[in-house]
Amino acid sequence: FRTVIEPFRIHSVEPLRMTTAEHRRQVAREAGYNLFQIRSENVLIDLLTDSGTGAMSRDQWAAIQHGDESYAGSPSYFVFRDAVRELFPYEHVIPTHQGRAAEKILFGALGGVGKVVPSNTHFDTTRANIEFTGAEALDLVIAEGHDPSSLHPFKGNMDTARLKALLAERGDNVPCVMMTITNNSGGGQPVSLENLRAVSEIAHAHGKPLFLDACRFGENAWFIREREEGQGERDVPDIIRDMAACADGMTMSAKKDPMGNIGGWLALNDDDLAQQCRSVLILTEGFPTYGGLAGRDLEALAQGLKECVDHDYLRYRIRSTAYLADALDKLGMPCLKPAGGHAVYIDARALLPHIEPLHFPGQALAVALYEAGGVRSCEIGSVMFGRHPDGSESPAAMELVRLAIPRRTYTQSHIDYVIEVCERVKARAGDLPGYRIVDEPPALRHFTATFEQF
Ligand code: F0G
Repeated sequence: FRTVIEPFRIHSVEPLRMTTAEHRRQVAREAGYNLFQIRSENVLIDLLTDSGTGAMSRDQWAAIQHGDESYAGSPSYFVFRDAVRELFPYEHVIPTHQGRAAEKILFGALGGVGKVVPSNTHFDTTRANIEFTGAEALDLVIAEGHDPSSLHPFKGNMDTARLKALLAERGDNVPCVMMTITNNSGGGQPVSLENLRAVSEIAHAHGKPLFLDACRFGENAWFIREREEGQGERDVPDIIRDMAACADGMTMSAKKDPMGNIGGWLALNDDDLAQQCRSVLILTEGFPTYGGLAGRDLEALAQGLKECVDHDYLRYRIRSTAYLADALDKLGMPCLKPAGGHAVYIDARALLPHIEPLHFPGQALAVALYEAGGVRSCEIGSVMFGRHPDGSESPAAMELVRLAIPRRTYTQSHIDYVIEVCERVKARAGDLPGYRIVDEPPALRHFTATFEQF
């Protein structure tokens, strides 16, 4: 059949609150045109993020009843640990409350002034956690990764020549190499197994450990299965174990592919580093067998880890994201190609050439989508990346607006509505105003900055 259906039916429903355009314009104004500052009951279709916003399954809710809330040595920890190790067989599995907590702990141990940490592209919290230690976060994605129209099948790949050059010139200051799979900030684009293996070889030849920021490992593995030569008949968990084998550890947000509403982990093989990390974990997160999570969360994640590698689920997941991308393409909406795994990224610089990058075309589009149809999206451009630790500002490599699709949450008619909202906004793109920042914090400004329209 041509139609790839949702491989589930609805078991419990949540009402959506309808709002008027006039009400939304007022809400946006009162929020200082920052969509993170809007109450979610004023949002109709929330595509701000796919993080923690997915629908848990019947079996995850059932697993929650198995949660054992013992402070130390809870059986729920071992269920969780074994589910992680089934896919990522690392020696030490350290639960954290989110991915960024794992990053904070890892780079607290590995970062520091004068160090430089290369990645294909660091996600914003990873970059911020590295820079917070005084280290430099360096993005070395392949050139195609910066070209919104390139149809390269693995635009998340690392530029191995640049990695080699960095390690030759500044190797002494590189504590580890990182790979983000899929490459969220670069458009949810996958990394090939071939590239991961090459990066692993280069890193290890220089004695550097490789860490995966593996939030969307299932989606990445599905892309490998679909696009990489010789991988088409393989089982996704086997592909994931091959990905894991390239690295020495991982940071993880369990709010993405593992279908959790909260959670994360740090996993690694190095005993000394693990001990150092666990000591900090106890100060900041909790005892090592729960690390900031309830036993019930650990159980839900263990079940989610089984569901997110299911082929029927992944086929639907990747197809439903491509469905939105294909429709926007038909409308002539400039989008980053090919479609990402978890999100579609509109190229706001191409849509709004009359707004200069530091007047934030991505912000202009995101606000317009909200005002027009109550669709909340997320700017990934100069608001998010334009300000540097020294306070200076320069345009980001791309001005994107991300429509992130929560897992198993919205139906096809919800997405059809989103497409219609995009069509309306596109029709009056030339009239959208740029923005200036009124107030901003020194780091991670996109969460709290306030704006005014030009
Ligand atoms: N790494 C990547 C690639 C991410 O996408 C995220 C979160 C994190 C790390 C941090 O994980 O939120 O659990 O602390 N991304 C979300 C997003 C917030 O909307 O893309 P966290």
